[in-house]
Amino acid sequence: MKIAVFSTNQYDEDFLNQYNTGHQITFFKVSLSEESAVLAAGFEVICIFVNDVLNKVILDKLQQSGLKLVVLRCAGFNNVDVQYAEELQIPVLRVPAYSPEAVAEHAMALILTLNRKTHKAYNRVREGNFSLEKLMGINLNLRKVAVIGTGNIGQAFCRILKGFGCEIKAHDPFPSQEMQQLGVKYGSLEETLDGADIISLHCPLTADTHYLINEQRLKSIKPSAMLINTSRGGLVDTKSVILALKSGVIGSLGLDVYEQESDFFFHDFSESIIADEQLSQLISFPNVLITGHQGFLTQEALTEIAKVTFGNIDAFQSGAPLVNRIEMLR
Ligand code: NAI
Repeated sequence: MKIAVFSTNQYDEDFLNQYNTGHQITFFKVSLSEESAVLAAGFEVICIFVNDVLNKVILDKLQQSGLKLVVLRCAGFNNVDVQYAEELQIPVLRVPAYSPEAVAEHAMALILTLNRKTHKAYNRVREGNFSLEKLMGINLNLRKVAVIGTGNIGQAFCRILKGFGCEIKAHDPFPSQEMQQLGVKYGSLEETLDGADIISLHCPLTADTHYLINEQRLKSIKPSAMLINTSRGGLVDTKSVILALKSGVIGSLGLDVYEQESDFFFHDFSESIIADEQLSQLISFPNVLITGHQGFLTQEALTEIAKVTFGNIDAFQSGAPLVNRIEMLR
C-alpha cells in the first residue's frame, strides 16, 4: 500500500525501513496539520505519531483524496478524532503496548535523577567541583508512591517500584488483580494522592482526565511531593503546577510530556528563543527535569512499533481482523 509517514526522525525511518513488509513508504519530517495535510493527497494510508493532528477538517480532506486507513505509531490517541474517522469508515489502528517497560523505566529514571540529582553531580564533577552541598535526596525504600492508571505502563512501573521497596497506592477505574497480589492498594483518586511522596501519572488523556492535576487537587497533596508525568501533557494544569512549585507545594517535577509540546518537542530549538513562557519558566527551575517525550525511545519499543504497525497495515490489506482498531475498545 502507499503510506505517508508523518513526524519522522531518522530512527523512525531506520526501524520502519527494516521491518517494511513490502509497502511503498514516503517519509515526511513535518507533523500532520491542516497546512501539511496536502502532502498526504493520494496516499491510502497515513502513519502518524503523538503530535500529529487528525481532526474532522483533515479527515474530510484526506478521505476525498483516497485515504483508507490510519495507523498510529503509538498507544495514546487523544490527537485523533477516532469517532469521525469511523463515521467516514476509515479504521484507526494503534500500537497498544509496544514496550510498557520503556516508559515505566523512563519514569523511574526521572525519579532517580530528580531525587539524587545525578544531573547536577555530573556537571559539577566535570568542572572539578566535588562539593555535596544541595545534592541530598531521600531513600525510595518505604516511600509512598501514587500511581494513577495501572494499565500496561502503570503495571510495569509498579513492578519497578516494588523492587525499590516502595509502598504503592493506585487509582484506576479497573483495578488489576495481579497488581493487588503484588501488594498495590487501590483507592479513589483523593485517597491515592493523600500522603504520597511521589505521584506518577499513567492514565490516558481523555475529557475525564484533562487537568487531573489541577489547582484544587494540588491543595490536598503532601507538601514537597514529587510529580512525574510521562503520560500526556494535558493531564496537568501547567499554570497551577508552576504556582505549586513556587510555593513549595510540589517539591520537584519530572515531565516527559508537556501541554504545548507539539510546538517544540522532537525539534532542535537550541539556537532559538523558546517562545513559551511556561516552558521557559519550568526549564529554569532547579527542581524540574524535562525530557522531550522520549519515554518510548528504546530499541525494543521501536522494533515493536515497526512490527505492529506493518502488522496492522497487512491485516487491513488482507481483510484479516483489525485487532488493534481503536473503535473496538469502546
Ligand atoms: P493502557 O491503556 O494500557 O492503560 C491506561 C490505564 O489508565 C487503564 O488501566 C485505564 O483503566 C486507566 N485509566 C483510564 N482513566 C483513568 C482515570 N480517570 N484515572 C486513573 N486511571 C485511568 O495505556 P498504557 O499503555 O499504560 O499507556 C498509558 C499512557 O501513557 C498512554 O495513554 C499515553 O498517553 C502514555 N504514553 C507515553 C509514552 C511516552 O513516550 N512518554 C509512550 C506510550 C504511552
